[in-house]
Amino acid sequence: MKAIGVIGAGQMGAGIAQVAAQSGYRVLLSDIGIAQAEKGKAGIAKRLARAAEKEQISTADAEAAAARIDPQANYDAFADAEIVIEAATEREQIKRAIFTEVGKVMRPDAVLASNTSSIPITRLAQAAPDPTRFMGVHFFNPVPVMKPIELIRGLATSEDTVSRVEAFANSLGKTVVHANDAPGFIVNRVLLPMLNEAIFALGEGVAGVRDIDAAVSLGLNHPMGPLTLADFIGLDTCLEIARVLYEGTGDPKFRPAPLLVKYVDAGWLGRKTGRGFYDYSGPEPVPTR
Ligand code: CAA
Repeated sequence: MKAIGVIGAGQMGAGIAQVAAQSGYRVLLSDIGIAQAEKGKAGIAKRLARAAEKEQISTADAEAAAARIDPQANYDAFADAEIVIEAATEREQIKRAIFTEVGKVMRPDAVLASNTSSIPITRLAQAAPDPTRFMGVHFFNPVPVMKPIELIRGLATSEDTVSRVEAFANSLGKTVVHANDAPGFIVNRVLLPMLNEAIFALGEGVAGVRDIDAAVSLGLNHPMGPLTLADFIGLDTCLEIARVLYEGTGDPKFRPAPLLVKYVDAGWLGRKTGRGFYDYSGPEPVPTR
C-alpha cells in the first residue's frame, strides 16, 4: 500500500487525509501532537460512518478507509511516504519549521507539497529539502466535496515532481488545474475580490447581511452567499489572502475592506469562533448586522 504523509489534522488536512484514505493510500497524519492527530482521525471516522449511514459508501469501505489513517506523534514514519502534503496553519514561519523537520526524514526521491492558499511557492521552496521536489497543491473546502485541485509550480519545481503530484491528484478523483505562482493562484484571485466587495457593501450600508447573501446566492446561483462563505473559510484566512493579493500585486483594487480588518481584530473569525457575519451559537445562524 502506498503511503502519503499529511501534516495538519485540521479542516483541510483532515479532508485531504480522508480522500487519500478513501482512494486506497495509507495516510500518516500528524499535527502539533498525537492528541490533535487522533482527534483529526476521529472526525474523519465520524464523517465516513455518516456517509455509510447515507448508503453513499459501504460500511466495510468506511471502516477500511478509517483504518488506513495512521496518526503520528512525530515525523519518523514519514520516511515511508512518497508524497508529503503540508496543510498546517497558514503562517510562513510554521511551514518553514515543519519543512526543516520533515525534510530530515523524507526519502531522497519523495515530494513535498504545500496546501498553502496564499504564500508564494517559490519563496516557501527555499525551506524545502529540495526545491525541485517541492510544489503547491491547493485543495478546496470541504475537500471531500470540492472537485478541483490547483497545482502550482515554483520556479525550481521539476517536471517529474509536477507529473507525480498530478498523478496523485487524479488518483483522488479530483480535477487538476495548473496555475503559475502568482498571488492567490486562480480561485482566490477571483474569489477574494467578490467576498471583500460584499464586506465593503455591508460596511457602506448597501444592504444587510441576509439581503447581500440572498441576493448573491440566488442571483448568481452560488451555493452560499459571500458573507456565509467568508465565515465558512474563516475571516482571518480571507484577510490573509486579501493582504497577499494587495501586497503581491500592489494593486489598490485588492485592499481589504475595513470591516473585515475590524472583525478579525475583534476575534470574530466566522464559524470557527462561533461569530462572524453570523452568530452560530443557536440552532440557526443569525446575522450580526
Ligand atoms: N466534509 C465533507 N462533506 C461535507 C462537508 C464537509 N465539511 N460539508 C458538507 N458536506 C457534504 C454533505 O455530506 C453532502 O453530501 P451528500 O450530498 O453526498 O449527502 C453535501 O456536502 C451537501 O451538504 P449539505 O446538504 O449539508 O449542505 P449544502 O447543500 O448546503 O452544501 C456545501 C454544503 C457543499 C459546503 C455547499 O454549500 C458549497 O459548495 N458551498 C461553497 C463551498 C466553497 O465555495 N468552497 C470553496 C471555499 S474557497 C477555498 O476553499 C479556498 C481557499 O483557499 C480559501
